[in-house]
Amino acid sequence: MVVDDERNMRLSLETVMADEGYRVRTVESAEEGLRLLAEQEFFMVITDARLGGMSGYDFLGRVKARWPGLPVLIITAYATPKLAVEAIKAGAMDYLAKPFAPEELIHAVQRCAERYRLLSENEALRARAEAPASVDQIIGDSPGIRELRQLIRTVAPTNATVLILGESGTGKELVAGALHQLSLRAARRYVRINCAAIPETLLESELFGHEKGAFTGALRQKAGRVEEADGGTIFLDEIGDMSRPLQAKLLRFLEDGSFSRVGGTQELSVDVRLIAATNRDIIEAIREGHFREDLYHRLNVVQFRPPPLRERGDDVLVLGDHFLRQFSAALNKPLAGFSPPAQRLLRDHHWPGNVRELRNVIERAVILELTREIQPSTLPDFQLELRLRKVVPEPAGSGVQPTGDFSLEDAVLAYERDLIVRTLEEKHYNLAKAADQLKITRHALRYRVNRLNIRLTPASEEPEDNPGRGDFSR
Ligand SMILES: Nc1ncnc2c1ncn2[C@@H]1O[C@H](COP(=O)(O)OP(=O)(O)OP(=O)(O)O)[C@@H](O)[C@H]1O
Ligand SMILES: [Mg+2]
Repeated sequence: MVVDDERNMRLSLETVMADEGYRVRTVESAEEGLRLLAEQEFFMVITDARLGGMSGYDFLGRVKARWPGLPVLIITAYATPKLAVEAIKAGAMDYLAKPFAPEELIHAVQRCAERYRLLSENEALRARAEAPASVDQIIGDSPGIRELRQLIRTVAPTNATVLILGESGTGKELVAGALHQLSLRAARRYVRINCAAIPETLLESELFGHEKGAFTGALRQKAGRVEEADGGTIFLDEIGDMSRPLQAKLLRFLEDGSFSRVGGTQELSVDVRLIAATNRDIIEAIREGHFREDLYHRLNVVQFRPPPLRERGDDVLVLGDHFLRQFSAALNKPLAGFSPPAQRLLRDHHWPGNVRELRNVIERAVILELTREIQPSTLPDFQLELRLRKVVPEPAGSGVQPTGDFSLEDAVLAYERDLIVRTLEEKHYNLAKAADQLKITRHALRYRVNRLNIRLTPASEEPEDNPGRGDFSR
């Protein structure tokens, strides 16, 4: 958009840019320019500094206030270095002094066009990466999944906060997306934040924004993503990984939608619906003091629990077929289905990684298969995997076999030892609590511990390979 009160200038600017392939609209005044900006999208504005009516500088100020991302180029016949600096400070993208060569103008316009292209590309990428799923993308005929879809349809149009719990790969993210899609907020933004992927120190400013200078590196004020989600939905994935101080701030935010940016004092307020998910054992996390119980209750207005794949019966085959069709189309490799032995393998597997694991298994099989049907030979050796996964040793002395060469006395001792060790572990080696659970006195427990030669230091003092991760499958 070109703003200039001189007809000749408007014409020559238009000609130079049209020759380069740019589409140009010209207006005579800043007032007219503001009206047009409100109606139509432009990638940049070129304005003369001196206009009849509102000046080019005032116009710049108005534009920056309303469309902060829109580049403005100022042209003036009365150029001084001081004015140039002021124009740039006020947010002008560039400053051209009359007279200028057409190339100078084109060069400046190209920079703005490039900037606009990058911004809109970013926007598109972001929108695509976060495009929420629809409820039809949740495949499966098992009662658990039918109920899940029904519950989504019921709860989606309300503003209820939702907590989604379940093992990894069960489709929690799909559920969150479908809830947004079916809500009254569907036309507004769906913002997903993975609390585990963002460093703890940055998560707060990502969520709530920060003021300029709030911390080293905070060069300018930044709006939080809760502001971006205003009117829409925010999905906090892996909320079990959020630090306790931030949990407190989130709790306050959930009370009434108000918050302040990091380093700011102003109370801001937005209207967002919150959905949270975690694959951690949240009850365990509360017990261990990692997760605030009050926040849990506040989030847990409606709870979704997508069931593990192993509990969905024939859905394994339904989903298997779905992924088979998807990948054989993508890889242009027509396959008829699964051979009966391959079906059996899929049905019998434990699927610790749930649907995500199944999807990966099918993708690999479609790549490797040479016959018309998926055969067991292109599926992973599930037995081997199971054995590899069993890295956690059974508690010492758990050879409790009803048959074999154990005497009754040895078997009973082994059983007793096993039970005591397990209870101690469960109670974090708190003797009083373990004794309570076993319904014996502390004294009696200590006596047995000594007699059975049980170590009273927790085995977990040795490094665990996955500390704190609740495992729903055990
Ligand atoms: N019922 C389903 N129908 C179709 N695809 C599914 C279903 N459930 C899960 N998927 C697919 O499986 C993959 C894993 O799902 P998703 O990312 O939602 O799992 P998650 O529960 O969020 O896992 P994590 O806890 O590891 O983040 C995705 O590719 C998703 O599209
Ligand atoms: Mg997920």
